[in-house]
Amino acid sequence: APYLNNLAQAAGKLWFGTAMDTTTAEPDDVDYMTVFNDTNIFGQVTPGNTMKWEFTEPTQNVFTFSEGEETIALAEATGKKVRCHNLVWSSELPSWVTDGSWTNETLLAAMETHIKTEIEYYGSGCWSWDVVNEALDSDGGLTSNVFSEIIGSAYVPLAFQYAYEAVQSLGEDIKLFYNDYSIEWAGTKNAAAIALVKEIQGWDGAHIDGIGFESHYSVSWGASQAQQEEAMASFTALGLQVHITELDVPCTAVPCTTDALTIQAQIYYDTISACMNTEDCTGMTVWDFDDKYSWIQPADYDGEGDPDLYYSDLTRHPAYTAVAEAIQGL
Ligand code: G3I
Repeated sequence: APYLNNLAQAAGKLWFGTAMDTTTAEPDDVDYMTVFNDTNIFGQVTPGNTMKWEFTEPTQNVFTFSEGEETIALAEATGKKVRCHNLVWSSELPSWVTDGSWTNETLLAAMETHIKTEIEYYGSGCWSWDVVNEALDSDGGLTSNVFSEIIGSAYVPLAFQYAYEAVQSLGEDIKLFYNDYSIEWAGTKNAAAIALVKEIQGWDGAHIDGIGFESHYSVSWGASQAQQEEAMASFTALGLQVHITELDVPCTAVPCTTDALTIQAQIYYDTISACMNTEDCTGMTVWDFDDKYSWIQPADYDGEGDPDLYYSDLTRHPAYTAVAEAIQGL
């Protein structure tokens, strides 16, 4: 079978990568780990959960980095880069953050400490950080969370300012990303994300290197290749690099029908092709590769499932070949 990371790097991209989660059964699953460890297939890893706030600072000023370190150790053992994920998000917040009685000043101080401590601890173990995740809701408004409620929209550029200060004090070239969904095609949310990036770029002391296109699609809908290329161009025009960060495409029912597998393969193909056609789209990552460990399980998502490149028995979906062809421009 063709090797996705080898092909991607031969074509000038940084990597073909995957998410994985050390808190699940994955690290003990020998067959899963055999595929994961194969650097020919995956040259990058994103920790699916373990660097989020609730894991890393469960109590204020008490930091627990061991789970995240596991991912970095796995990456270092197999020559993978790590896209560290994430510093500030509405979800997976410990209760001391969500339920704290904050003022603008105290919450900013807590956010600054969290961002700087995490960046400084993991250091060059992180190739990049998703500094702010999903700050916008589906209609392009600011997602309501403790940060937007107490600090207002300034929390986003301020997070990038704190992150940049940490990176500069380390003296490392760690890239800083904004990561979101439904920005992969022109529309209200894409426009709001462009405005947000411009706000960060115009903010004294802040810095942003790239934008993450989550790319969570479904066999019932995916952005076309042309739509995705147009959306990528709207960010590369601002000087950013683009990463596909969380690609997956569930079937509406499992097992996937033959027709669904064909559509699934086409959506993977279109997404990867858009990145391949965009010089500054530099990396491509799937949100795990084994259906067994996907976040989209039929019981939780109204029957939807099997969104990944490998079935639970680790045989490959047709989408795997489609991705290999897209990388090669076939
Ligand atoms: O670790 C516990 C386990 O002990 C317990 O038995 C089990 C019971 O539900 O829960 C386990 O934790 C879950 C964890 O995933 C590991 O499976 C959490 O409850 C669950 O909330 C967590 O969900 C993650 C979700 O983000 C929320 O953080 C998903 O795995 C993860 O794939 C998903 O990833 C997000 C990205 O970070 C941002 N973009 C969207 C993407 C998909 O939602």
